[in-house]
Order: sequence, then C-alpha cells, then structure tokens
Amino acid sequence: MKFTTSLFALMAAASTLVQANNDALQPYSIYAYGINATFLPYGARLTSLYVHDRNNTPRDVVLGYDDPAQYVKDTATNHTYFGPIVGRYANRIRNGTFTIGDTEYQVPANEHGGQNTLHGGSMGYDDRNWTVTASNTSSITFTLMDPSGYQGFPGAVLTHVTYTVTSPPRLTTRIVSVSLDSYTPIMLSTHIYWNLGAFQSSTILNNTLYMPYSDRIIDIDSILDPTGGLASVKYPLQSSSLPLNFTQPKQIYEGALYSQQCGAGCTGIDNAFILNRPLYSSIDDASFPVLELTSPDTGIKMSLKTNQQSLQIYSCGGQNGTIPVKASQGKGFVEKYGCLVIEPQQWIDGINHPEWGQTERQIFGPDSPPQVLWASYDFTTV
Ligand SMILES: *[C@@H]1O[C@H](CO)[C@@H](O)[C@H](O)[C@H]1NC(C)=O
Ligand SMILES: *[C@@H]1O[C@H](CO)[C@@H](O)[C@H](O)[C@H]1NC(C)=O
Ligand SMILES: *[C@@H]1O[C@H](CO)[C@@H](O)[C@H](O)[C@H]1NC(C)=O
Ligand SMILES: *[C@@H]1O[C@H](CO)[C@@H](O)[C@H](O)[C@H]1NC(C)=O
Ligand SMILES: *[C@@H]1O[C@H](CO)[C@@H](O)[C@H](O)[C@H]1NC(C)=O
Ligand SMILES: *[C@@H]1O[C@H](CO)[C@@H](O)[C@H](O)[C@H]1NC(C)=O
Ligand SMILES: *[C@@H]1O[C@H](CO)[C@@H](O)[C@H](O)[C@H]1NC(C)=O
Ligand SMILES: *[C@@H]1O[C@H](CO)[C@@H](O)[C@H](O)[C@H]1NC(C)=O
Repeated sequence: MKFTTSLFALMAAASTLVQANNDALQPYSIYAYGINATFLPYGARLTSLYVHDRNNTPRDVVLGYDDPAQYVKDTATNHTYFGPIVGRYANRIRNGTFTIGDTEYQVPANEHGGQNTLHGGSMGYDDRNWTVTASNTSSITFTLMDPSGYQGFPGAVLTHVTYTVTSPPRLTTRIVSVSLDSYTPIMLSTHIYWNLGAFQSSTILNNTLYMPYSDRIIDIDSILDPTGGLASVKYPLQSSSLPLNFTQPKQIYEGALYSQQCGAGCTGIDNAFILNRPLYSSIDDASFPVLELTSPDTGIKMSLKTNQQSLQIYSCGGQNGTIPVKASQGKGFVEKYGCLVIEPQQWIDGINHPEWGQTERQIFGPDSPPQVLWASYDFTTV
C-alpha cells in the first residue's frame, strides 16, 4: 500500500514536471506564516513577494508584471531583468572575452554596441525555461541544464536554484551549480528589484540603506566595466563626489542624487560594493547581515545575509515612468529611482582580473566542488 501511494506520488510529480516544461509561464507559489512568493520557470524568476507592513497589511515588495507573457516581451525590448536568475556569468565581462588555460573564449557581447557582455550573453539564464524539479508548500527548486558551448561558454553546467520561505518571514535563495566537463566561469545572482514601500511613494530615495561592511567598490570605466582598480567609498557623507559610503545607515538619496561613479553621464548608484567581512569571520561567513533596507512608508525592514563576496546595487536611474506597477501596488508607473536592485554576487569580471585572487570562486571544473551561493532576506517592521 505504501509503495503504491509513493508510486502515485511519483507519477503525479512526473506529470507536474511535464506541465512545467510545457509552460514556462505557469506561476508557482509558496508560503509560510506572514510571507508568500510567486515564481515563473521562465528565468526561475520571482514575480511577487508579500510581507506584512507595520499595520499588518500585506504588501508586495518586488517589481514585476501582472501578465507573465509580459516578461518575454520585456526581454525582447527593454530587458529590465525583473526578478530572474542571471548567469552563466552575471554582470559584465569586458570585451566579451576571457581566457582559461591557453584558450581565449568569446561570448556574445550584448551590451554597449558589442563592447561587453551583460548577464551571460544574448540568451542568459533569465531567458531560459527552467524545470521545476522539487516543490512543497514553502519551497521550490528550479533546474537548468546549460549545454556545453551554448553562448560560447566552455562546458556544460547544471544548476539548481531553491527558493524557500519560512516564518518569521524569511526568503532564502540557494543556488548550486556543478561544472560537468570543462573549466568554465560560473557566477550567478538573483536580480530582484525591491520597493519595500510597495509604491506608497513613487521613489525609494527616502529608504534607509545600511551596508556595514561595504567600504570599498570595484572601480569601473565609462561603460561600467571594471578597470582592475578597487576604490574606497570615502568620507564625508554628503559631498558631490563622495556619496557611496553607506557603512552607517543613510537615506538613499544621499548616494543616488549625488554619486557620479556609475558610468558616463550617469548620476545614481550602480556599483559593486565589496563585502569586507569583519576580521573574526571567514571570507564565506554568511552569519551576519551585510545589508539592511528600510521603508519609512510601510516600516518594512529587510536584512540580507549572504556568502557572496559583493553586492551590486542599482538605484533604478534608468526607469522613466513608462512601466506600470503591478495591480497589487496601485495604479502608478515605475519612476526614476522607483526601485533598488540588489544582486548578491562575486567580484564582477573577476575572470579577467586574476590579480584579485577571486578565480577559485568563479572558475569551476569537473573536479571542483559545486558552487553553492546563498542569501537570506529577513523581514521585520519598525
Ligand atoms: C499572498 O498574499 C497576498 C496578500 O495576503 C494574497 O492576496 C495572495 O493571494 C497570496 N498569494 C498566494 C499565492 O497565496
Ligand atoms: C518598454 O518601454 C517602453 C517605453 O518605456 C514601453 O512603452 C513599453 O511598454 C516597454 N515594453 C515592455 C515590454 O515593457
Ligand atoms: C523610457 O525607458 C525605456 C526603456 O529604457 C525606453 O525605451 C524609452 O524610450 C524611454 N522613454 C522616454 C520618454 O525616455
Ligand atoms: C577582445 O575581443 C577580440 C575578439 O572579439 C579579441 O581578439 C581580443 O583579443 C580581445 N581583447 C582583449 C583585450 O581581451
Ligand atoms: C520559453 O518559454 C517562453 C514562454 O512559453 C517561450 O516564449 C520561449 O520561446 C521559451 N524559450 C525557449 C528557449 O524555449
Ligand atoms: C519543503 O522543502 C524544503 C526544502 O527541501 C524543506 O526544508 C522543508 O522542510 C519542506 N517543508 C515542508 C512543509 O515539507
Ligand atoms: C522624503 O521625506 C521628506 C520628509 O518626510 C519629504 O519631504 C520628501 O518628499 C520625501 N521624498 C520622497 C522622494 O519620498
Ligand atoms: C564612512 O562614514 C563613516 C561615518 O559615517 C566614517 O566613520 C567612515 O570613515 C567613512 N568611511 C570611509 C571609507 O570614508
């Protein structure tokens, strides 16, 4: 009897898998007391995340679209990367080239007129249809088999991403990748656009951001490719040239309206902040918060822990009031500075900067341990 039951369970699970393969735009939801989240296999993408505000009203605190089909259209047009996994190599690769051993590899240079690669090339992990391989009421796992040579990357890579919600309200992301047959770069991240005020205000400029260990950034050139330099975020707080110091809690406008270290003609935050963990901790220690973000409108406070080595922070300077917010968030549009993207990731373009000593976290072969990246987001109210 027991055997029969589990056989039925297996068959049911298998038929769910087939359905998932057939429809990458079918939403899947998970929940725990005080939190729920919805995902699409298309990009293994987070499309909504509800937590309660200080008045106990549920608020959807991430950006996205109501109609799942809109994500496919977005990829083909504005390509905002609302909520997916980005990879095989997140962020930028200068010139779209890198060398492993004696071989130089060229991957699609899909940004800045062919001057660099962004988020894994013209068909990144955000634009792939992942398979649901495990799920229960509070957790879901998406799996992607990335074939050898696809988008020019050497070797096949198998990735499982597991999203879990627990109570007290926490979202955990765990990304496990294995290089199956060659040495290859692997650098994955989540690309979640946050608005903890759930668009009660049109911008996040009044949110308070605190990144206690982020006293350095990766220096970038006019098209946001790393120069190889590492720069201090620098004191004083509110000066036109030195606004990226969030090592004490500070409102985002103090950085977003003054910083000009985000490429040619750009004002705002679009920087990779290096996590300099405290002396007593190991480099992969993920036991303490590396970022806190608080909205004055909802009182929602998010606290992020991760074993990744940096945080790319983007203050949505490129939004211009043309993309509508979700129905759950009112009737407005996503305005300039209407969101904050937080990408826990490794040092960007580290594959082209062996002098940084990050290679073992970014290049993986069949004899390497799996790459295991995780982040947790705790929600409280103040
Ligand atoms: C998540 O919570 C919100 C707010 O309570 C609710 O409207 C929505 O239906 C929930 N979603 C799921 C999938 O349970
Ligand atoms: C892309 O942006 C344009 C202009 O902001 C907007 O009209 C269009 O709806 C957007 N497309 C998608 C798919 O979001
Ligand atoms: C707004 O941004 C979108 C996406 O980047 C772009 O397509 C559109 O031309 C912009 N519209 C205006 C009015 O600047
Ligand atoms: C840039 O890419 C080209 C191929 O597109 C390659 O020949 C060249 O060596 C690369 N330059 C650098 C500095 O890596
Ligand atoms: C992924 O699914 C979407 C939505 O069904 C579809 O438009 C797209 O062609 C699929 N992509 C691939 C690579 O199969
Ligand atoms: C759901 O799966 C997750 C991940 O495997 C596990 O940690 C959790 O205990 C499971 N929850 C339930 C309710 O079965
Ligand atoms: C920020 O808060 C101040 C004071 O409460 C208010 O005057 C201002 O309009 C707010 N700005 C934004 C962008 O919310
Ligand atoms: C950042 O600001 C704090 C004061 O808020 C200061 O103690 C610290 O030295 C500054 N960091 C740098 C790198 O200038």
